Amino acid sequence: MPEYAFIGRSNVGKSSLINMLTGKKGLAKTSQTPGKTQLINHFLINENWYIVDLPGYGYARASKSKKADWDKFIHTYLDKRESLQCVMVLIDSRLEPQKIDLEFCNWLGEKGLSFVLIFTKADKQSGVKTDQNVSRFKKALGETYEEIPEYFITSSETQLGHDDILTFIDKINKVFEIPHLN
Ligand code: GTP
Ligand code: MG
Repeated sequence: MPEYAFIGRSNVGKSSLINMLTGKKGLAKTSQTPGKTQLINHFLINENWYIVDLPGYGYARASKSKKADWDKFIHTYLDKRESLQCVMVLIDSRLEPQKIDLEFCNWLGEKGLSFVLIFTKADKQSGVKTDQNVSRFKKALGETYEEIPEYFITSSETQLGHDDILTFIDKINKVFEIPHLN
């Protein structure tokens, strides 16, 4: 079954976004403390596709060996998972472009993995500020990419981006529908 992995820096709002998209508040565990999600969690949606919640990268307080473990299992998962359709890279819309996010996007590019950008926590600031940070990120990514991937501006608080993301996923899932026999 097709699956979509949600990934980004620790505390960026991956689990909250998954709960917002599915309309199930307690589905993915969220926390104010970074490093909450420590496993690869699959959530089956409508019995025909998966949302995958991944542990965040760049968690400052994780030990060196934990970081190395993270790198290994996440990179192996992303690199080898054949049912993975698209990597949803979450970026905190309040921040200027972060090196770690740009590096991660570049790594995805090197591996030839398709990805989209999801800017999170847009409710926390003005639309002008969000647009500014989105433009900066696109510009920074443009230094290595000719074509900027599709992007979504979201808030798990206000549900901003809900329909656009689900429509995007739906379009890809349609390819997997087995035609009815007459
Ligand atoms: P890890 O699993 O630790 O990597 O974190 P995560 O990326 O899954 O983040 P999580 O969803 O647990 O959210 C982290 C914190 O940010 C929580 O306190 C959330 O309530 C808050 N948060 C997440 N998304 C939003 C949002 O759109 N708006 C606001 N205001 N807060 C948010
Ligand atoms: Mg999480």
